[in-house]
Amino acid sequence: MERSKINIQNEIETKKFGMRLADSAKAGDVIALIGDLGTGKTTLTKYIAEGLGITETITSPTFNIVKEYRSGRLPLFHFDVYRISDPDEMFEIGYEEYFYGDGVCVVEWADIIEDLLPEDAMIIRISRGAGEEERVYDITDNRGSANVHTGN
Ligand SMILES: Nc1ncnc2c1ncn2[C@@H]1O[C@H](COP(=O)(O)OP(=O)(O)O)[C@@H](O)[C@H]1O
Ligand SMILES: [Mg+2]
Repeated sequence: MERSKINIQNEIETKKFGMRLADSAKAGDVIALIGDLGTGKTTLTKYIAEGLGITETITSPTFNIVKEYRSGRLPLFHFDVYRISDPDEMFEIGYEEYFYGDGVCVVEWADIIEDLLPEDAMIIRISRGAGEEERVYDITDNRGSANVHTGN
């Protein structure tokens, strides 16, 4: 388990972080994003997608729970579980196929389904900093040593 805190000054740094994270991502990685509305969960997901070489436009999957993108180095499964009221909805979409599958999962509002997250998930808690574009990433990375550290 690796714990780290990263201070993001602006969206360019979010982009760098997301691209670097994509570079070191492996099939079966689950990246859990926790943070209020507007902290940049979807924005970070877009940069992870860009880093994976995904050419499709990433749009918020709020009404679908999960969207799949397969044009990159690895498949990206983008979850937004904001509207889930019962964990059964996760079983209905077959979330295990994704979490333990051949792609990278990014989960927005992951605190809502925290009990379902794999033990080796990477958890990124995002909060706002002082400035408009500042964010703090509080990261618990349980993915194991094969992944390269993704600090600034
Ligand atoms: N450092 C940053 N990282 C991510 N987004 C940022 C940052 N600074 C400003 N923003 C802006 O904040 C907004 C975040 O929106 P969004 O990614 O949809 O958040 P969420 O998915 O968490 O609700 C975007 O308009 C984005 O341009
Ligand atoms: Mg979002």
